[in-house]
Amino acid sequence: MAFLQGLDSHVVIVGCGMSGLGAALRLVQHGFHNVRVVEASDRAGGRIKTALWGGKFLEIGANWIHGPCQENPVFRLACNYGLLDEKSTTEENQSIDVDGHPPFVPNWFSSSGRKVSVDLTKPAAMVYMSLLQESQGFFAQDHEHLPARSVGEFIKSKALEALGEEQVDKGTKELRLAVVNTLLKAECCVSGTHTMDDVCLKSFGMYKTLPGLDCTFPGGYEGLIRCMIQDLPKDIVSYNKPVKCIHWNCTDQKAKNSGKTFPVLVECDDGETIPADHVILTVSLGVLKRKQKTLLSPEMPPQKVESIQNLGFGTNNKIFLEFEEPFWEPDCEIIFFLWEDETELSDVVSDLERFWMKKLFGFTVMSPAERYGHMLCGWIAGCESEYMEALSQMELESAVTQLIRRFTGNPTITPKRVLRSQWYHDPYTYGSYTYVAKGCCGQDIENLAEPLPLKGSQSKPLQVLFGGEATSQPFFSTVHGALLAGWREAERIISHYAPLTFPETGGSKL
Ligand SMILES: Cc1cc2nc3c(=O)[nH]c(=O)nc-3n(C[C@H](O)[C@H](O)[C@H](O)COP(=O)(O)OP(=O)(O)OC[C@H]3O[C@@H](n4cnc5c(N)ncnc54)[C@H](O)[C@@H]3O)c2cc1C
Ligand SMILES: *[C@@H]1O[C@H](CO)[C@@H](O)[C@H](O)[C@H]1NC(C)=O
Ligand SMILES: *[C@@H]1O[C@H](CO)[C@@H](O)[C@H](O)[C@H]1NC(C)=O
Repeated sequence: MAFLQGLDSHVVIVGCGMSGLGAALRLVQHGFHNVRVVEASDRAGGRIKTALWGGKFLEIGANWIHGPCQENPVFRLACNYGLLDEKSTTEENQSIDVDGHPPFVPNWFSSSGRKVSVDLTKPAAMVYMSLLQESQGFFAQDHEHLPARSVGEFIKSKALEALGEEQVDKGTKELRLAVVNTLLKAECCVSGTHTMDDVCLKSFGMYKTLPGLDCTFPGGYEGLIRCMIQDLPKDIVSYNKPVKCIHWNCTDQKAKNSGKTFPVLVECDDGETIPADHVILTVSLGVLKRKQKTLLSPEMPPQKVESIQNLGFGTNNKIFLEFEEPFWEPDCEIIFFLWEDETELSDVVSDLERFWMKKLFGFTVMSPAERYGHMLCGWIAGCESEYMEALSQMELESAVTQLIRRFTGNPTITPKRVLRSQWYHDPYTYGSYTYVAKGCCGQDIENLAEPLPLKGSQSKPLQVLFGGEATSQPFFSTVHGALLAGWREAERIISHYAPLTFPETGGSKL
């Protein structure tokens, strides 16, 4: 009886990214028929965004399924929809465990315009990789009183020790320093942070990697979004409809609709107000940080505000470059740039205007070449990345052309075309993804995921629920984390009405 009433409850989902879509599908599949998804932008997918560029699919947002194995719900979903290349989904590929770091074949180029052999870079790269691994180990250990240290400080101090012990000439020593700097800048992109000095050493290992060789969608990541939308009833998603304020804990008659009073009223920018029993909020942590004072009324409780502040949300962008001819070797999968003039360990740039491009650690080579031609994807994180976003297209093209010419030592090489992402200036994202900032802990993610009203309140339960990548432990910052968080909040509502039929952490039906 209670469950049948539950199916009538009005659920509004804010945001039509992976998390919102996952929640909507789960509710609809369980028979909820008053579900509505309200999306600020004119499209579904959020940070999953595929562009068609000269006949090629490019991922402006998410690119890989990280850890494609049976435990990964995005992998299972993509397989069910038949969206993946069979070669990449073999059992063997699923079981390869690279701990999140695919063994890309590198080419190294230096700022003096020469190729640097892997023999020269390898010792420093090995030192770096083992320190990175060591940083991940602090999470499992009992370090209650570990002072708030960062991954950056840890790696830099240990790398200096290790490199200082080596009996090599000054040039080699500087080169090794530069290698560590480049790899730190690359890690800033992976973590989505300005500097690794902002990433919490204690919590760094909280992120869990799944086994499987990261794979991509030959027809674009957005194909997955399209399949999911098709499985939803028509017209339950409203686009171009930014939510201005979620009024919850309503006791007055404002939220009245055909005789029923609702505890929540969703107020949109266009003036429409939507009454609801439950709202699942899936906006990015970047949006929560900016709008925490106004998005909810009454305001969020202090512990939630504090956790929103504690967690980090940074910028990582891509710059796609197409070339007539490759300047990299045929087997090369990743290109690293080494700045030889760097004499100390640092992953930030001092003069943004002049040197922002020093933060761009290098490029991944788009493959297969039959599909992409000679295309590179550059990666740049942090304030330098945010600065890059605001440049004109001409300024950007000129800067990256100069950069490539310098590092290849070829004064005429010119990219045919340049395309960049601009996630920081996206008014419905404000950055790229969540990272564990210095001083934060797993409890902050728990606090963020806690529904309102908080436990112990006399008001109606589960008025505002929180999904989205940032609420996902241990998979924050990923698409599968977003999907799992959406499912989790849908299950929370489902099990509220049918506690015995649907256990809260029930497995998926897929
Ligand atoms: C450059 C980049 C590369 C990435 N690469 C990968 C990768 O390779 N693999 C991986 O797993 N993950 C990757 N990620 C992360 C991944 O894309 C995200 O974790 C995931 O897509 C987040 O989904 P979400 O539903 O939580 O949030 P979002 O996708 O951000 O969805 C939130 C939605 O809410 C909407 N919204 C915001 N404000 C409002 C409002 N006021 N009213 C209504 N709607 C609103 C937004 O428009 C958006 O559609 C990458 C991200 C970026 C930016
Ligand atoms: C793993 O996937 C890649 C493509 O991503 C493919 O080229 C390779 O053959 C696969 N390996 C196996 C063992 O299937
Ligand atoms: C919600 O409403 C109840 C009853 O009016 C009140 O006691 C409580 O303080 C309200 N909670 C918030 C967070 O405003």
